[in-house]
Amino acid sequence: MAAKSRLRPEPEIAAPKSLAALNRLIAAAPPMVKGGTRAVLGEGPLHPDIVFVGEQPGDQEDIAGKPFVGPAGRILDKAMQEAGIDRKKTYVTNAVKHFKFEQRGKKRIHSKPTAGEVKHYRWWLEQELDLLRPKLVVALGATAAMALAGKPMAVAKNRGPIILDGRPGFITIHPSFLLRMPEEDKAEAYKAFVADMKRIHRLVDRQKDAA
Ligand code: URA
Repeated sequence: MAAKSRLRPEPEIAAPKSLAALNRLIAAAPPMVKGGTRAVLGEGPLHPDIVFVGEQPGDQEDIAGKPFVGPAGRILDKAMQEAGIDRKKTYVTNAVKHFKFEQRGKKRIHSKPTAGEVKHYRWWLEQELDLLRPKLVVALGATAAMALAGKPMAVAKNRGPIILDGRPGFITIHPSFLLRMPEEDKAEAYKAFVADMKRIHRLVDRQKDAA
């Protein structure tokens, strides 16, 4: 696997031997983005078939301390359900583990992580995946795809099955993209998102059948 663009947040610390040890490290480390309060850890069983990777926790995730529990998470849950994927059997995490935001009055406004910030968080994501050993890792959107590939990856051009830094992967849109798009385009884009989820389900089933 490419090691070039991987930065260890704490170089003196050896690779953790368990997910619990990794999560303790992440939870104790200071945020590497502006605004971040607490680390939002990945959630799900060890050795899942599928790991879903988002960009970063949002406002509601930061409050709850859990990934994908806000509006984007509800779309993800619905699409998974329609595709026959049980979220509880998958692992859901983020490329960046803290909510980067700008305070405007009482509101905390999401701020996109820079490529440099994504790179700083990459070592943790790699450790997470090495410990989880999923059959398939799914990048939800361009930030996750960049974090997993170690280089910029346009979603429209690379959507679908792909090898991400040596791992069997799949690139699809980020569910929050559906929230932001014009009303008249939403139904079709959501249908395509569900079609991706069904394909992800089939890909994993096929791997299981071949094993
Ligand atoms: N968006 C993400 O990328 N991750 C979350 O956990 C929530 C929203």
